[in-house]
Amino acid sequence: MKRKRVKELLAGTANGEKVLVKGWVRTKREIKNVAFVALNDGSTINNIQIVIDLNAFPAELLKDITTGASIGVTGTLELSQGKGQSVEIQASDLTLYGKCDPDSYPLQKKGHSMEFLREIAHLRFRTNTFGAVMRIRHAMAFAIHKYYNDRGFFYLHTPIITGSDAEGAGEMFHVTTFDLNDPPRTKEGAIDYEADFFGKPTNLTVSGQLEGELGALALGEIYTFGPTFRAENSNTPRHLAEFWMIEPEMAFWDLNDNMDLAEDFLKYLIKYALDNCREDLEFLNKMIDTGLIERLEFVVANDFVRLTYTEAIKILEAAGRKWEYAVGWGRDLQAEHERYLVETHFKRPVILTDYPKSIKAFYMKQNDDGLTVRAMDVLFPGIGEIIGGSQREEDLARLTGRIVELNLPVKDLWWYLDTRRFGTAPHSGFGLGFERLILFMTGMSNIRDVIPFPRTPRNAEF
Ligand code: 4AD
Ligand code: MG
Repeated sequence: MKRKRVKELLAGTANGEKVLVKGWVRTKREIKNVAFVALNDGSTINNIQIVIDLNAFPAELLKDITTGASIGVTGTLELSQGKGQSVEIQASDLTLYGKCDPDSYPLQKKGHSMEFLREIAHLRFRTNTFGAVMRIRHAMAFAIHKYYNDRGFFYLHTPIITGSDAEGAGEMFHVTTFDLNDPPRTKEGAIDYEADFFGKPTNLTVSGQLEGELGALALGEIYTFGPTFRAENSNTPRHLAEFWMIEPEMAFWDLNDNMDLAEDFLKYLIKYALDNCREDLEFLNKMIDTGLIERLEFVVANDFVRLTYTEAIKILEAAGRKWEYAVGWGRDLQAEHERYLVETHFKRPVILTDYPKSIKAFYMKQNDDGLTVRAMDVLFPGIGEIIGGSQREEDLARLTGRIVELNLPVKDLWWYLDTRRFGTAPHSGFGLGFERLILFMTGMSNIRDVIPFPRTPRNAEF
C-alpha cells in the first residue's frame, strides 16, 4: 500500500478507508485498553491520532512505541470520537522502524528553550516550532523563484568562491589549500598565492551582486539566490556568518523602480505565506508571537514610507531620546535608530534613501551633491534593515574615482569596470537577507532559529 501523508489524511473524510501512514510518535497515552498515539510525519504541524487496541498487539511491541519512535501504521480512517481532531486511524497493523530510548531522548513533552534546542539542532526539526519555521522557509524559497520567474527575471548562479570583496568591507573568509603552518613563500617572504589552488587569493563570496550586474547588463533582469558569507564578528540576534541572500539586478531601472520592486516583492512574499502557510502561522501566532499575523496583514495593506537619510536624521535628532549610539549626519544608523523610525515614529515599513557616500559601498551611484549616493535600505518592524540596495554607478570615471579614493584594488575589478566601458547603462538592484525575511515571517526572535544549521562566531556544529 502507498503511504499517505498526515496532511492529506487530515484533509480527507472518515470513510473507513484503509490507509498506511508513517511518522514519529509525538505522544502516547493509555486509557484502559486503548492507547492514543499522536503521530507526526512533518507534512503539517498537526498530528494524526492513532487508536491502538492494547489487546490486539504484543506488549513487547507496544512498550517500544514511545515519544520519538518511528512507526508505520495501517488502519482505517474513522470519525474521531474525541475532541480536537476530526479523523483518526484505528490501527490494524503496526511496524516499529526505530526505537527511541525515553531516558536519553532530549525532546520530551515539556517545552524547551530556544537556546537548548540550538544545542540539539540535529533534532529540533521534530518540534512544532521548527517544523513550522522550516515549512515556511521552504514556502518562501519557492515563492521567491515564482515571483521572479513570473516577471521574466532570470535566475543567475553567481560564484561562491571569488577573488573579489563585493562590499569592500574586508569581512571575508579566505579559501586556500595551503598548509597554514607552512605556506609557500616568495623570495621576499610574503605568502606566495601564485602557488595556491587558484593562483591568487580567494574568498567565500559576501554577495553575488557584482557578477549579478554583469548578467543584468546582458539579460536585462536577473536575480541570484544563494549562500553568502561574512566574517563580521557580530554576535547579534540578526547576524549570521553564513546566510542566504536574494539579489535582483535590473538594467535600465532607476532607484524609484528599485524601491517599487522591493515593496511589491516583500508584500507578495508575505501574502504568499498568509495564503499558503496558514496553519503554521497560526501556530506561531499562538505560541511565539501573538502580534504576528496582524503585523503581516498590516504590512501587506499599507504603503511603505519613503524618505531620505537626511530627513531621517532630523527625525532622530528631534526624538528627544537617549541613544546608545550617537545620531548625527554622516553616522551610520544602528538597529535602535532604524527600529525607532519604523516602530515608534512611522509605525510602518520605511525605505530610506540617499545615504552619505562615506558609509555605503563603492558601487553606488553618486548624487550631484557630491556627498550622498542613490542607496536604499528597507527597514522593517522588529528587524531593522531587511533589504539593502542602490542604483549603481554606471559612469566609468566616477566609479573608478571612487574605487581609487577608497583604496580598493582597481586592477582586480577590470571585468566589473569593463561593463561601464562597453555599453554601460543605468541599473539598480538590492539584496534581501533571506533569514531576516524568515524572522519577520515567523515572529521568531533569533536569526539562529530560522536557518537549519546556523554559523556564527565560534559556532559551526552540525
Ligand atoms: O546591505 P547588504 O550588505 O547589501 C549587499 O550585500 C548588496 N550587495 C545587496 C545588493 O545591492 N545586491 O546586505 C543585504 C541584506 C541586508 O539588508 C540584510 O537583510 C542581509 O543582507 N544581511 C545579513 N543577514 C544575516 N546575517 C548577516 N551577517 C547579514 N548581513 C547582511
Ligand atoms: Mg546594508
